[in-house]
Amino acid sequence: QDPEAQSMLEAHEWLTKLYSHMLRNSKEGKQALQYMLDRGFTEEIIREYQIGFSPTSPSFVVTFLEKKGYHPQTMVKAGLLNVNDKGDYSDRFRGRIMFPLRNHLGKTVAFAGRSLGDQQPKYLNSPETDLFQKGRLLFNFDLARSAIRKTKTIILFEGYADVIAARQAGVENGVATMGTSISEIQAQLIDRYAEQAIICYDGDEAGMNAAAKAAKLLKLTGCQINVARLPEGMDPDDYIKKHGGDRFKKEVIDASDPYTSFIINYLRRNYNLQLEGDRIAYIEKVLQEVAQLDRAIEREHYLKEVAADFDISMETLKDEVDQLKKRVP
Ligand code: CTP
Ligand code: MN
Ligand code: MN
Ligand code: MN
Ligand code: MN
Repeated sequence: QDPEAQSMLEAHEWLTKLYSHMLRNSKEGKQALQYMLDRGFTEEIIREYQIGFSPTSPSFVVTFLEKKGYHPQTMVKAGLLNVNDKGDYSDRFRGRIMFPLRNHLGKTVAFAGRSLGDQQPKYLNSPETDLFQKGRLLFNFDLARSAIRKTKTIILFEGYADVIAARQAGVENGVATMGTSISEIQAQLIDRYAEQAIICYDGDEAGMNAAAKAAKLLKLTGCQINVARLPEGMDPDDYIKKHGGDRFKKEVIDASDPYTSFIINYLRRNYNLQLEGDRIAYIEKVLQEVAQLDRAIEREHYLKEVAADFDISMETLKDEVDQLKKRVP
């Protein structure tokens, strides 16, 4: 392997250990450790994920990496150091809780640093580097792989904290993207390892819109898709901390909506169903979704709902869907 990439990997390995040590054993890391414990993360899970702390000194990592013999310029390329126009190097991550981002082989290839208070940005991630392309990596895939194989199901979360809280609660097949949008490559990766994907994003507007996008993209791979619903203003981590893992499994994961139900509900938000024009436009959209279902039983299930909700006969609805199906190539 190319020696520069090798030293970038090594440096990530060293820093994973160093940051983790600073969180668990240093005076400087005490407040950060307490913050994590207060959030309900156990010492065991903190160790398992090698969660760490980056000291506030601007040259803590500069000095450390220099002593280990790494080229500062290479370390800038690795996204671990910054350099200004005078050529001074400084640490990229300072005073943050450090989440190592591991590739599928379990090697740290990047970091996400969470601020302790309300400092912005909340998460500072590594830049894209030769080691790390965020659209190609799924957070936690290395640890989740065996549970994904066993259950044939993958759970897609929005945040690192959600994945970790879920694992702590015994839900081990969770992964996350780095930020809310999912790439085609990530969708293909999910489809390759799982038959079913359950999208479990935050219970807010952003989460809902991101879930709709992810669901549509994942649907194209042929994977079976469900979308979980969370109470307004809660994310999976909040839910688990408040209600426990068992209720999370039963009331969120097992109760997740099949793709078509989710889309039908999601579409409804764009229409004022009191207005006849909107109502017809909405029904048309729903029928387009239903027409894409392969099985007559499934189609019938949704058509019955539409028939009841809007007082239209099943016969009319079936005719409409048959027309639409003819148009689908
Ligand atoms: N994110 C990011 N940069 C930010 C905010 C968010 O990259 N400034 C990404 C992170 O991958 C984060 C995900 O978006 O995990 C979800 O964001 P959010 O819901 O705001 O964070 P949580 O995961 O809920 O983090 P926490 O519980 O620590 O607040
Ligand atoms: Mn599949
Ligand atoms: Mn969110
Ligand atoms: Mn969240
Ligand atoms: Mn959260």
